[in-house]
Amino acid sequence: MDLYEYQARDLFEAHGVPVLAGVVATTPEEAKKAAEQIGGTVVIKAQVKVGGRGKAGGVKLAKTPQEAYEHAQAILGMDIKGHIVHRVMVAQGAEIAEEYYFSILLDRAERQYLAMCSKEGGVEIEQLAEESPEKLARVNFDPNVGVTGSIGGYIAAKAGFDAADAPALAKVFKQLWKVFKEEDASLVEVNPLVRTGDGRIIALDGKVTLDENAAFRQPGHAELIDESSVDPLEAKAAEHELNYVKLDGEVGIIGNGAGLVMSTLDVVAYAGEAHGSVKPANFLDIGGGASAEVMAHGLDVILSDSQVKSVFVNVFGGITSCDAVANGIVKALDILGDTATKPLVVRLDGNNVEAGRKILAEADHPLVTTADTMDAGADKAAELANK
Ligand SMILES: Nc1ncnc2c1ncn2[C@@H]1O[C@H](COP(=O)(O)OP(=O)(O)OP(=O)(O)O)[C@@H](O)[C@H]1O
Ligand SMILES: [Mg+2]
Repeated sequence: MDLYEYQARDLFEAHGVPVLAGVVATTPEEAKKAAEQIGGTVVIKAQVKVGGRGKAGGVKLAKTPQEAYEHAQAILGMDIKGHIVHRVMVAQGAEIAEEYYFSILLDRAERQYLAMCSKEGGVEIEQLAEESPEKLARVNFDPNVGVTGSIGGYIAAKAGFDAADAPALAKVFKQLWKVFKEEDASLVEVNPLVRTGDGRIIALDGKVTLDENAAFRQPGHAELIDESSVDPLEAKAAEHELNYVKLDGEVGIIGNGAGLVMSTLDVVAYAGEAHGSVKPANFLDIGGGASAEVMAHGLDVILSDSQVKSVFVNVFGGITSCDAVANGIVKALDILGDTATKPLVVRLDGNNVEAGRKILAEADHPLVTTADTMDAGADKAAELANK
């Protein structure tokens, strides 16, 4: 789960990372009040979960509460890369001497964490990494050790900071590591991390991604979920504890086992190239013991996706045998009745496959076509989606 900047700011503050005052506002009046309360120059910042807000006109300096009102009025409702701005953060203005970059993330390839740091912050880091990779220090560290004072100092030195500046930076890196660890984050990024005219190091803009797999031990995280930004189909799937991710195509996918579903997505995307470039509409893993009820919930979610034109059910019978799955499909179609309106291609293989295919053949449901192989099934589903 990605957080808004103001939520990241609050987490930073709770863990002792130096931040400036920041107040969320949803109307120009609230923004004006917040500006009065904070006092002095403030910055009105669009709260959207997408980068490049500044360039899009979503970050504006306001010298007076009246200016804060006007900027908030202009920024609220703005469309930034397809994200509508519903709230702004009124942030205390910083007197910036220099802007740096710092982040901690999971480095899957190295099976470690990675800290990245640059003296050139405030810019797009992807661009910096591409054009001047030598300016971006990359330091892997052991998750069990974390960012200690000495590792923090090493990161600062590698980024080219003077030895005299390193201790103050290392202290903030350590605090940001504390946020990463204690909040079960998979990304903590500060861009820019600034040094003010009077020498303080402050996190001016934060991006935090929390690991949802840790939700069970992070009761406080539930209230950070922004209901209005959750995809309604994903919300419906979550209600039934389905492993579902909405994608952008036309072929609904149901499979059992994450690996099989991932490869089904690839095969459907490939088959789709020959059928008007149709693509997979979702990831849905109904897991090992897929009952008729689970199948019905899964089908229900996929069929309520208005983009879906056909569905490919690709199941490999293991512990749950193919006849049980076939019964599940037939019963699911029964449960759904008239709400099931899109063609289904079913490919069964593995344990008890003959019995499973027989059940589908006998049910002879008008919407169901069977396929013997994954490639044939993907091709058929793509063809039907392109009709
Ligand atoms: N509180 C503040 N006081 C003074 N200047 C600020 C403040 N917040 C941001 N700025 C200036 O605005 C620039 C852009 O701000 P910020 O990094 O928050 O947005 P962004 O980089 O455009 O958005 P994103 O990080 O989503 O791409 C900063 O690099 C900094 O120069
Ligand atoms: Mg930024």
